[in-house]
Amino acid sequence: MRVAMIGTGYVGLVSGTCFADFGHIVTCIDKDSSKIDALNSGEIPIYEPGLQELVAENVANDRLFFSTDASDAIKQADAVFIAVGTPTRRGDGHADLSYVYAAAEEIAGLIEGFTVIVTKSTVPVGTGDEVEAIIKKTNPDANFAVVSNPEFLREGAAINDFKRPDRVVVGTDSEEAVEVMRELYRPLYLNETPIIVTRRRTSELIKYAANAFLAVKITFINEIADLCEKVGANVQEVSRGIGLDNRIGSKFLHAGPGYGGSCFPKDTLALSRIGTEANSPLKIVDSVIEVNAARKRRMADKVISFMGGDVKGKTIALLGLAFKPNTDDMRDAPSIDIVSKLQEAGASIRAYDPAAMGEAGHIMKDVLFCDGPYHAIENSDVLVIVTEWDQFRALDLERVKSLLNTPKVVDLRNIYKPDYMSERGFEYTSIGRAY
Ligand code: UGA
Repeated sequence: MRVAMIGTGYVGLVSGTCFADFGHIVTCIDKDSSKIDALNSGEIPIYEPGLQELVAENVANDRLFFSTDASDAIKQADAVFIAVGTPTRRGDGHADLSYVYAAAEEIAGLIEGFTVIVTKSTVPVGTGDEVEAIIKKTNPDANFAVVSNPEFLREGAAINDFKRPDRVVVGTDSEEAVEVMRELYRPLYLNETPIIVTRRRTSELIKYAANAFLAVKITFINEIADLCEKVGANVQEVSRGIGLDNRIGSKFLHAGPGYGGSCFPKDTLALSRIGTEANSPLKIVDSVIEVNAARKRRMADKVISFMGGDVKGKTIALLGLAFKPNTDDMRDAPSIDIVSKLQEAGASIRAYDPAAMGEAGHIMKDVLFCDGPYHAIENSDVLVIVTEWDQFRALDLERVKSLLNTPKVVDLRNIYKPDYMSERGFEYTSIGRAY
């Protein structure tokens, strides 16, 4: 099948590349010519493990193309995917749909023969109807169907999530479009991946409900973690104890400094707006937004109180800046709040992240970005682990101790064990573990 992918951001690039790897002919289109030039010379604008190799392989096999010119690819396409950004609109928390609608207009003038227009971008309920109306208005003779097909990719694990998803959701009333979608996802269908065919509005809501539910789960366990600290319990054991109940499930029950990234913060806000406008308020989601934002700010207080209530003139080593491991994404990362509050309190920051220091450099001021974990730890008064990159899980603790001015560790991801650390002479605190 022939696929045109509009938008070479995270979702477009990963999805386009994986469709090409399934054997389809894919053209990824972006207006940004420097991005397309870079992609054509083999440079990948995002950090995603395995993506560079997969792009190179599919380009070499003439299945994957990058272009600024949408016309030929859209004319020939069986399916045109809209994978442009839907950032939070300034002021009201709504998803900004201007890129989606601009793409719809452009597509409308170009399609030839029956074409399935697929929204992969996360869009509010009813956006598919609007896209359909725009296409009809711009090109009344067009033969098309608009389908919602949300993505459930996690940054850092996106290729695996695309190729081995828990489910594929397809929202449309058009039988003809369902056939095209089944053909596109046939390699997964053969693996018995459930394909949920539903109405378009339901599909659009599934995406928001999934992300909001995961945000609720994380925020719930984070509050339980706080309670564990107060009542002498251990949140990891609570997570295991409840997670083994199949109705609850063990994933997304890791307590930490609060969720960040480009999806949960944006999508919970947008869902809350959708609820308000539909006169069906989502109080749980609203609380989660508030609790999570406060938590990120509170993490710096945790460090300050661990340091005896004052960090003025202290040097703090931060390991991990990205909102999670295996990405360079800094959007809404807890590290941003932590760094600014510690700096306000008079501390100097030495930081190391394997991938995100470039991005962090655009956001954070007066941080000394270091060459490696031990360089960051050197001459610091406390080590704070913010993101659980694998390489921080087995640090040479003797070396850490000898490099720190005082052997203090705040582990916001619970990657070390309290006993183990105190046996090695560290004063150690973590999240939700009284023991
Ligand atoms: C999330 C969803 O997991 C994907 O299914 C979805 O497709 C994507 O958003 C999206 O809408 O595009 P992502 O933002 O890449 O993916 O990252 P997650 O792995 O879900 O982590 C989000 C945040 O939650 C991170 O800050 C992470 O540290 C935090 N988290 C996650 C926890 O604090 N505890 C957990 O147990 C799990």
